[in-house]
Amino acid sequence: MTPVRIIVTAGPTIEPLDPVRFISNRSSGYMGYKIAEAASNRGHIVTLISGPTRLDPPKVKKFVSIETAKDLLAAIKKEIKKSDCLIMCAAVGDFRPDKPAKQKIKRTRALSLRLAANKDILRALSGCREGKLFVGFSLETENIIKNSIKKLKSKDLDLIAASRLTKNHNPFDNRKLDVLIINRSGQKMLLKNKSKSYVSHVLLDKIEQLWYLMNNRGTTQNVTRNKRRT
Ligand code: C5P
Repeated sequence: MTPVRIIVTAGPTIEPLDPVRFISNRSSGYMGYKIAEAASNRGHIVTLISGPTRLDPPKVKKFVSIETAKDLLAAIKKEIKKSDCLIMCAAVGDFRPDKPAKQKIKRTRALSLRLAANKDILRALSGCREGKLFVGFSLETENIIKNSIKKLKSKDLDLIAASRLTKNHNPFDNRKLDVLIINRSGQKMLLKNKSKSYVSHVLLDKIEQLWYLMNNRGTTQNVTRNKRRT
């Protein structure tokens, strides 16, 4: 198939508190790096935009390093016009310290932090949505299906890959995991105890299929309306 120009975002964002401290999350970047690697190996043109991770970047067309959610949005905006597909695997921080201190904060008995909400990046990109595939990820500790379908709809996604974080299921790093892939029409595919490399290839199969149908039969809405397999 003709190569698809894919942006993959990966890893956590970090939000500074002062020049030496930040708030962040537990994302390792492993899933996004595996997707970028698999897509590149399939011959797609991959731009990997990544928050700080301990991983060596895979061989991709372009690698962009970012720190904050604002940096991430700016980096995607730079690339999105020349792309066909956005895979939002990055664990974007929903909040940032409202006013990061210019100097290192000194120890006190207690410290209250005021956090400001970061923009939802996928929603902020709705203006560039036309003719592109948008894929999101969803990590939940409860109500996985309900919450993930809500995100799929509110963020106008073609596919969402949902996973859970519980006492018995930890999907971080290079662990095997359960993933539920949901498409626009609510069709679901459950992958149980699979490696992130395996999950990447299943997702890419679906993306390639949707991309083909979108470019040969109209929009992805038509594809799902025709009840095609996702
Ligand atoms: O954090 P949440 O579970 O809402 O993430 C769902 C999807 O939305 C992910 O693909 C994530 O990359 C994306 N996201 C975003 N902007 C945010 C938070 C998450 O685009 N501020």
